[in-house]
Amino acid sequence: MNALSPHRDKILSASHLLGIEGLSPPEISRLLDLADTYVELSLQINKKQDTLRGRTQINVFFENSTRTQSSFELAGKRLGADVMNMSVKGSSVSKGETLVDTAITLNAMHPDLLVIRHSSAGACELLAQKVDCAVVNAGDGSHEHPTQALLDALTIRRRKGRLQGLTVAICGDILHSRVARSNILLLHTMGARVRVVAPTTLLPPDADRLGVEVFTDFEAGIADCDIVMMLRLQLERMNGAFVPSTREYYRFFGLNREKLKIAKPDALVMHPGPMNRGVEIASAVADGVQSVIKEQVEMGVAVRMAVLDALSRNLPGGANA
Ligand code: CP
Repeated sequence: MNALSPHRDKILSASHLLGIEGLSPPEISRLLDLADTYVELSLQINKKQDTLRGRTQINVFFENSTRTQSSFELAGKRLGADVMNMSVKGSSVSKGETLVDTAITLNAMHPDLLVIRHSSAGACELLAQKVDCAVVNAGDGSHEHPTQALLDALTIRRRKGRLQGLTVAICGDILHSRVARSNILLLHTMGARVRVVAPTTLLPPDADRLGVEVFTDFEAGIADCDIVMMLRLQLERMNGAFVPSTREYYRFFGLNREKLKIAKPDALVMHPGPMNRGVEIASAVADGVQSVIKEQVEMGVAVRMAVLDALSRNLPGGANA
């Protein structure tokens, strides 16, 4: 039994978390409320609960990760699950085993929760159709990164007290960013005003249909906003030059102390990480008083605990099964 949420109320209607798309405002609010309780738990000396005792969680990361993989591991362990991190490099994937065969193989070991990161958009949705356990999308190509958007929302809500009515500028490589896509969906659903700020080459062709305001001038885009969310140039997803040079990109689209003054005086600076200092953000801003970048990492553990807990409630044998 979860001491902080004794009734184990239903949080999510779906069995998997494949994206923010499809989540309702009450579902997002319930996840954030539950995550708030896990922020408190993570500050205690004894950080362990037995909410997931007896459950098996497998983390399979086909793409590199520091924050997401380690926080999913800590989240599962703090909730009492048996957590296994499959090393893709040393696995039979290197011998040609397909993604689906890998998932079917892992499924035969009866995990309860499968956390997956993959370079292909839609990979998690495909796997969810092949396995019996709950699947969590830890980032699929340029598609979605739902737990990143949830942890960003938790960070904003705890600092600003709300999401509704805030103006959030998401700046940088919108085209290749699953973080941008999940954040746009979540913030829009929760009533925030979202701007995307990028050179034309880094904007999706359908940007004006995402329910956002589009800016190609950085200063105009961040003017009077409550949140400046900077994104990394996703060089690994680019086949060719999308910007003339990183030096020129920084000059026009990098955030420094001077430019930050254009946003509201109490604006928060966010970045999902990993950061490229001196490319999209100056160190003085990343480490400055308005930055909540380290707090985002802290919220990541709490949000992932909430997601694992919520999905476990919908499993056979869970409180709401
Ligand atoms: N923000 C994020 O997904 O970071 P990692 O790639 O380190 O997991």
